[in-house]
Amino acid sequence: MELIEKLNWRYASKAMNGKKVDQHKIDTIIEAASLAPTSSGLQPFEIFVITNQEIKEQIRPIAWNQSVISDCSHLLVFAAWDTYTAERINKMFDLTNSIRGTKNEGWENYRQMLLNSYPQKDAEENFNHAAKQAYIAFSQSIAAAAFEGVDSTPLEGFDPAGLDEILNLREKGLRSCVMLPLGYRDSEKDWLVNLTKVRKSKEDLLTLIE
Ligand SMILES: Cc1cc2nc3c(=O)[nH]c(=O)nc-3n(C[C@H](O)[C@H](O)[C@H](O)COP(=O)(O)O)c2cc1C
Repeated sequence: MELIEKLNWRYASKAMNGKKVDQHKIDTIIEAASLAPTSSGLQPFEIFVITNQEIKEQIRPIAWNQSVISDCSHLLVFAAWDTYTAERINKMFDLTNSIRGTKNEGWENYRQMLLNSYPQKDAEENFNHAAKQAYIAFSQSIAAAAFEGVDSTPLEGFDPAGLDEILNLREKGLRSCVMLPLGYRDSEKDWLVNLTKVRKSKEDLLTLIE
């Protein structure tokens, strides 16, 4: 199948059947998230991969009781840094230097520029910026899941403070942004499965500046 065909096959599943997704497909979906571009390459988020049924059942009530939380195979939680700190920025720049085996003046100047700006900013502003980066990875994992023939439900309908508490995210300097249950659609129970996908016209989407 071509990319667009696969993206048309994808929809936000409302019911899943509990079937397990093979680990190699999960690994591919997570690798796609990891390969997403992020601002300054900081990857300011972590991904929690939940298969523990008890934890999923704890999450469901704070997520509008959505059944896919229980019936998915793997529940991904994207959690962004609660702020940018010097330590976090340095860790990524040091990692780059050690992997590339070089130290570059331009790159070090860029590090200093970030150190002189992000950590001084308001934590809420920094979290919002970090969350945007997490959404890029989230989106890439949705596309990768479709490519692997795995269903998913992008899921923002939950109480972030409640989820932070269940996963102890605040203690880790993280805040939940968005979830992605992965699994297989239950076509008999899913009211959305056979409905035509609706997208606005290209005329409403695009402005061509030629
Ligand atoms: C960030 C985000 C949050 C969403 N949250 C929910 C949700 O909590 N529950 C749900 O059933 N669908 C959720 N959706 C799915 C959207 O409603 C769905 O993607 C949209 O209606 C387009 O339909 P399609 O994905 O089936 O093409 C969410 C989608 C996104 C991108």
